[in-house]
Amino acid sequence: MNDDLNQKVKKRRTFAIISHPDAGKTTITEQLLLFSGAIREAGTVKAKGKKSNKFAKSDWMEIEKQRGISVTSSVMQVDYDGFQVNILDTPGHEDFSEDTYRTLMAVDAAVMVIDSGKGIEPQTKKLFEVCSMRGIPIFTFMNKLDRDGREPLELVAELEEVLGIDAFPMNWPMGMGKNLLGLYDLYNQRVELKNDDSEVYLPLDDNGEVEGDYDFKQSSIYTQALEDAQLLHEAGNPFDRDLINRGKLTPVFFGSALTGFGVQTFFDAFVDLAPSPSETETEDEQVIQPDDAQFTGFIFKIQANMNPAHRDRIAFIRICSGEFEKGMMVTLNRTQKDIRLAHTTQFMADAREEVETAVAGDIIGLYDTGNFQIGDTIYSGKKSVQFKPLPQFTPELFMRVSPKNVMKQKSFHKGIEQLVQEGAIQLYKTYHTEEYIIGAVGQLQFEVFQYRLLHEYNAEVIMTPLGHKIARWIDPDDLNPNMSSNRNLLAKDRFGNPVFLFENTFAENWFKDKYPDIELKSLL
Ligand code: G4P
Repeated sequence: MNDDLNQKVKKRRTFAIISHPDAGKTTITEQLLLFSGAIREAGTVKAKGKKSNKFAKSDWMEIEKQRGISVTSSVMQVDYDGFQVNILDTPGHEDFSEDTYRTLMAVDAAVMVIDSGKGIEPQTKKLFEVCSMRGIPIFTFMNKLDRDGREPLELVAELEEVLGIDAFPMNWPMGMGKNLLGLYDLYNQRVELKNDDSEVYLPLDDNGEVEGDYDFKQSSIYTQALEDAQLLHEAGNPFDRDLINRGKLTPVFFGSALTGFGVQTFFDAFVDLAPSPSETETEDEQVIQPDDAQFTGFIFKIQANMNPAHRDRIAFIRICSGEFEKGMMVTLNRTQKDIRLAHTTQFMADAREEVETAVAGDIIGLYDTGNFQIGDTIYSGKKSVQFKPLPQFTPELFMRVSPKNVMKQKSFHKGIEQLVQEGAIQLYKTYHTEEYIIGAVGQLQFEVFQYRLLHEYNAEVIMTPLGHKIARWIDPDDLNPNMSSNRNLLAKDRFGNPVFLFENTFAENWFKDKYPDIELKSLL
């Protein structure tokens, strides 16, 4: 253990915001940047978001050109209250892809932003499930309190019912929309009044009442909040830090990202309660401590073709232990190749900068000419390290794919093989005829695949969407080829394992009824 390194690591907070599009992820990120002094004006991030949103999906190359922007916003490091906060972006909308899920493998905590008018939406649920599988702490921010939304008690109950996570309200709204008075803050034992210019915090007495004479104390909104707080105290879950750390209990905060109300209270508690980087398990069940002197890390995302003319790529690496120094030598475990980390980049709010040093918990980008694959481990020194493989995620979209020009078969196969290895797309083949099927979790993956095959491998492809949406694996011993029909297409994954592609849940349930003894398995 190294004291100086340990001090630095303890100050790291690496997290992602999980939410459904439009819940307010960009707006709350922007507030964090404002508080940290990284930007001076609200609207900066949003304006960039708008700019790249303008491009149609088909104009992917243009989007790629803009990747200078989106890469910068894929990871941001800001200083907040003495902490080095790393925020990792989890793209939604058309940008949703396996990378979005994999990013969650590189964080120590997640902030779940929910639109209080809508409650839990599909994308939030999917991303939550990935976080929950990892057992990382999840902090909930119920956003848009400046509008009339759903009843707070209902929103909290929904966390338990829909996501299966216990909730601990850290604060409680006193009214909402136009009638928003403020927040009854159970965690800090104070009331935070809504005030346009400055924060007003009023301490609570032993009975949980605001001390002193204030007009608002006569209002039914205040008395209702007191009653609710009493109820929560008596019937709700107790505050339990251990359960929070294990992702079993989510602290819930209310606020409005747009007006900034409640946001600072949220971030203050977040940096206080969220964990600093912890140990990482290796493939042979060893644990690597973050303050271990040996530098280690893994690649969780590769952003290709920032500049099509140069074919450059950026491999995103999560540092798991030790300290990165510019120009250091590392070994890439998969190939045992020694690589000098000369060209790296770290991500600040507004610009890409060369990294000088970084420690466990930080994310750095390595300029790559094709050495790295997703899931690769790199390390300094002699002791070889291989972290556990990143999970694969069950695709929900499938396309049949074939080369347009049969003369270009070779480049087509090479391209597919490399893009699959890189984790850009998943590959399946029909079981008997071995026709290619590609699978993805987001539409963008197909577009990137098509574009890259053409531009990097000179192979034009024909892609035809399959109506099948659900992939389920079965034990090879259970396989009977007669089980296949046009509603459940029998295929094999790239390791040769049998997988059924079902048209819909109806087809899946029909199969289950017909073959009750066969277990259907999904990836994550
Ligand atoms: P996202 O990144 O999660 O997709 O959401 P984003 O922050 O872009 O917010 C989506 C919309 O919701 C934006 O409105 C934003 O202004 C609004 N919003 C975010 N937080 C709050 C909040 O606390 N209260 C209210 N009332 N609105 C909020 P938009 O109309 O799509 O964009 P804009 O033109 O207003 O910027």
